[in-house]
Amino acid sequence: MASAVTKLRIRDIQIGHSSGRKGTFALAVDGLTFDVAANEFIAVVGPSGCGKTTFLTAVAGLTPVTSGELSLDGRQIVGPGTERSLVFQQASLFPWHTVVENIQFGLKAHGRLDADGRRRTLELLELVGLEGKGGKYPRELSGGMSQRVNLARALATDPELILLDEPFSALDAQTREVMQEELTRIWQADGIQAGKTAMFITHDVPEAVFLADRVIVLSKGPAHLVADIRVGLPRPRLPAVKRSPEFLALVDEITGLVMNQSQPLRRMTSDDDARLAG
Ligand SMILES: Nc1ncnc2c1ncn2[C@@H]1O[C@H](COP(=O)(O)OP(=O)(O)OP(=O)(O)O)[C@@H](O)[C@H]1O
Ligand SMILES: [Mg+2]
Repeated sequence: MASAVTKLRIRDIQIGHSSGRKGTFALAVDGLTFDVAANEFIAVVGPSGCGKTTFLTAVAGLTPVTSGELSLDGRQIVGPGTERSLVFQQASLFPWHTVVENIQFGLKAHGRLDADGRRRTLELLELVGLEGKGGKYPRELSGGMSQRVNLARALATDPELILLDEPFSALDAQTREVMQEELTRIWQADGIQAGKTAMFITHDVPEAVFLADRVIVLSKGPAHLVADIRVGLPRPRLPAVKRSPEFLALVDEITGLVMNQSQPLRRMTSDDDARLAG
């Protein structure tokens, strides 16, 4: 159950990129505002290229905000920190390290690979369903298994906020469904991952509704908030919920909002008149 304590505060933020030889500056996020409560699972959807990844990297502290407030537990985000971890679309595992070594990478880097860290690794291996696979190398893993390792690695450092950028989009449809169910199971389980807050970017509206407590819909770029929709489906959430009328109605509503952003209504012009006439 989400508590009412604000974890992440996003107030009228702008984020831009400089590109080209002249360093032309263009906004990717413009005037985005919403709050994330502690323990909430937030899904973010929006048209392709609207600024989702840019926004997530700003929350990770890898891209600076140009203006506005972006703060975690009341402290402005000014760079990366161990209380946040990232999971990307492509599993970014070190090929020369085993599964266990990959999961422990962050712990080791921060000098925290003690008895507690090792116990934590074993617990995480079991949690993500990779018990007995700790000695394997990334090349021996399927795409779904690699993302399980990525997830375990993101949880290993005991972050408060987990940021996921389309983590399942490179998987085949069937594996993707399995991973959605796995992530929900992991999220709802008691244990070392309990009490965390998550922000999950996806193009897949049913995935967003199945996973999240709230779905944030972004406009086409530069991104601002279009809708903030509470998903009232009860937890624990089981796969069968995907067939419920409530689920399907939410998916319809949110898909409509995203489609409206992707294909803005175009006013007829005199050129159209001429084309239609002849
Ligand atoms: N490093 C960069 N330098 C310059 N421009 C960038 C950079 N990264 C992103 N952009 C631009 O910022 C805008 C938003 O990109 P971003 O990757 O955040 O969108 P997105 O919503 O994640 O897209 P997708 O749905 O395809 O993943 C785009 O116009 C993109 O071209
Ligand atoms: Mg992206």
